[in-house]
Amino acid sequence: MKRVVVTGGAGFIGSALVRRLLEDGDTVAVIDNLLTGHERNLAEVRDRIEFHNVDIRDASAIGGLIRGADVVYHLAAIPSVPKSIDDPVPSHEVNIDGTFNVLRAAAEARVRRVVYAASSSGYGDSETLPKVETMLPRPKSPYAVQKLVGEYYASVFHSCFGLETVALRFFNVYGPRQDPSSPYSGVLSLFMKHLIARTPPTIFGDGEQSRDFTFVEDVAELCAKAARAPGAAGKMYNAGNGGRYTLNFVWDLLQKMEQVRLPAKYGPPRAGDVRHSMADTTAAVAELGHAPRFTIEEGLKRTLAWYKQSQTAAA
Ligand code: UD1
Repeated sequence: MKRVVVTGGAGFIGSALVRRLLEDGDTVAVIDNLLTGHERNLAEVRDRIEFHNVDIRDASAIGGLIRGADVVYHLAAIPSVPKSIDDPVPSHEVNIDGTFNVLRAAAEARVRRVVYAASSSGYGDSETLPKVETMLPRPKSPYAVQKLVGEYYASVFHSCFGLETVALRFFNVYGPRQDPSSPYSGVLSLFMKHLIARTPPTIFGDGEQSRDFTFVEDVAELCAKAARAPGAAGKMYNAGNGGRYTLNFVWDLLQKMEQVRLPAKYGPPRAGDVRHSMADTTAAVAELGHAPRFTIEEGLKRTLAWYKQSQTAAA
């Protein structure tokens, strides 16, 4: 039995990871300031975990909580490309300074390994697809820069301070518990909200931009594998599904699944947006044992079922 810490464990990805780690019998402590996360995301596992309402910008507070951990999964962040453009200071402080605090606390506590949630946004608009880890980063937004700095810090904490770190570049994760309540929410959570309300979503640009939408349980599984994989310390891997779908395709598919006709509204393209994104999963498959299980159809089906059921429960 290991003691593990999940920063951002009340978030949508973090809470899926907490559930996954409990299956292994780990003792799980969550650090989350509930800025974008919610305690309700952990409702049915709440009595099996430690929960600490702490901000990762508070270095002294997290130091004590990380002490004694075998693995730290660092997922706490202010996500969203447009939010980092509209309000860059908090996302800079949390995503860069907060990440530094977590890494420093882990190094001082001699944690065995830190798994860091990096982002596919680091690639920017590379001409070739799929995107391979060896490509030069071309960040197009403060968020992309911040997540890259975290990767570099993770790698340097390994080379300079001997802390084992593995960075995973998440590719547009979706699934149950993704919060659709903000304009900065992930596009598929917004699509779900509109589909259920029978209102048209807004698509920014022509809708032909594509994403490697990755189901949250596949990402949680890969995080658990990254904590164990030999030879992975100090490295960065793509955490994607290896496919790509346009927004038009996905919105079409969702309408078919619900047998409705709700043409999307189209707005101007969004600042900082990447055009196409798709992961090369070769390294993650070979070195971490990555084996994504969910097709886009299956992932969307499960996600839609969850949003419908949670709406019924709330009514
Ligand atoms: C980016 C990163 C992703 C990261 C995420 C954090 C890339 C390729 N991906 O996601 O790894 O985890 O930030 O938040 O950079 N859109 C609409 N209508 C809406 C909302 C969004 O058309 O109502 C469009 C956006 O313009 C974009 C696409 O949907 O083209 C996806 O947007 P979003 O879900 O916000 O994620 P990314 O910015 O791609």
